[in-house]
Amino acid sequence: MLLDKLSVKLQQAMIRNSIADLKKIIMEKITASDKKQNFQTDFLPLQGTDYVEFYVGNAKQAAHYYMSAFGFQALAYAGPETGLKDKASYAVRQNKLTLVLTTPIRPNNEIADHIYKHGDGVKALALRVDDATSAWEETTKRGAKSYLQPQRTKDEEGEVVISGIHTYGDTVHLFIERENYHGPFLPGYRDWSNPHYKPADTGLLYVDHCVGNVGWNQMNPWVNFYQDVMGFRNILTFDDKDISTEYSALMSKVMSNGNGFVKFPINEPAEGKKKSQVEEYLEFYNGEGVQHVAMATGDIVHTVTDLRNRGVEFLRVPTTYYDDLLDRVGHIDEDLEPLKELGVLVDRDNEGYLLQIFTKPVEDRPTLFFEIIQRKGAKSFGKGNFKALFEAIEREQGERGNL
Ligand code: FE2
Repeated sequence: MLLDKLSVKLQQAMIRNSIADLKKIIMEKITASDKKQNFQTDFLPLQGTDYVEFYVGNAKQAAHYYMSAFGFQALAYAGPETGLKDKASYAVRQNKLTLVLTTPIRPNNEIADHIYKHGDGVKALALRVDDATSAWEETTKRGAKSYLQPQRTKDEEGEVVISGIHTYGDTVHLFIERENYHGPFLPGYRDWSNPHYKPADTGLLYVDHCVGNVGWNQMNPWVNFYQDVMGFRNILTFDDKDISTEYSALMSKVMSNGNGFVKFPINEPAEGKKKSQVEEYLEFYNGEGVQHVAMATGDIVHTVTDLRNRGVEFLRVPTTYYDDLLDRVGHIDEDLEPLKELGVLVDRDNEGYLLQIFTKPVEDRPTLFFEIIQRKGAKSFGKGNFKALFEAIEREQGERGNL
């Protein structure tokens, strides 16, 4: 009897222990798989866009344009006076948006060649990271082509580490590690502000997304690049049925990094009766490159009114767009009249709505332009506006004789 009782207790203890062991094993497995998952999505943690660098024919004047027309403030300068032999760069800033305008001051170098081939355009989409060495190692080991090996630079304000990889066309991503830097912009730059010229800010806040135009059948290879090499996810896909007019079409996939701070839609042309806007871009940019940079605002009516009054030109959709707008998107907080007057577009998704407008190209080649966007819950990109928008773009293309 006693033996029986002991044996039952022993069995119960064994069951309890094995359940506890089993729990332990399961927990270990879950943690390991979590770690694996985190490792898979976080091998390239990004804190957002650090700056966008343009190669331009005349950086001094381009910097003035972004200050006078868009409300950026002078931030920092690097050039012959700071020891650079063959280029000059001006950094301008508005809230979390930093633009760098760089120009060659001699021929026969990478910057001069870039401008000869592409005209003014975006060279670098610089991303803020905690560890630029690891960002470079993780991406190059997954197949990225190195543009710049991790490079540590210092001045009396501290140090930064910068590395870089190539992406589509001649565009690059730089990884900027600047936690230990307290100067105005980067080592090598000096403070550049003019107490007599401080144009008011226009309410632009941060980079919402940057769109790349790539060649025929190149969208998926670049989607795979962002997926495999940079750990991004494809969060939205638009096919030629979503984005087509009577004449032309394009396809687009939106890639986002893990925390959603960095979003890169990738466009490729699709077959249509006439030349699409992506084809026009590829022809005049002479290759793949950044099509538009979307800048966020908290008050689009204020921002666009201000930009328009400073000479920024926007694409216009026909006013009939507004006739049934509220039937399409439901209630919005804004008055319709100012939106109609400015030409601001509205679209709704499951999470809310967004307001957006597009500038005309900001250089003589029909290449780079800007989007101004205000998000009110919506995380999408204005699919409902594509048709009206692309018809507006095609009217402009027609005027240029490029349709
Ligand atoms: Fe956009």
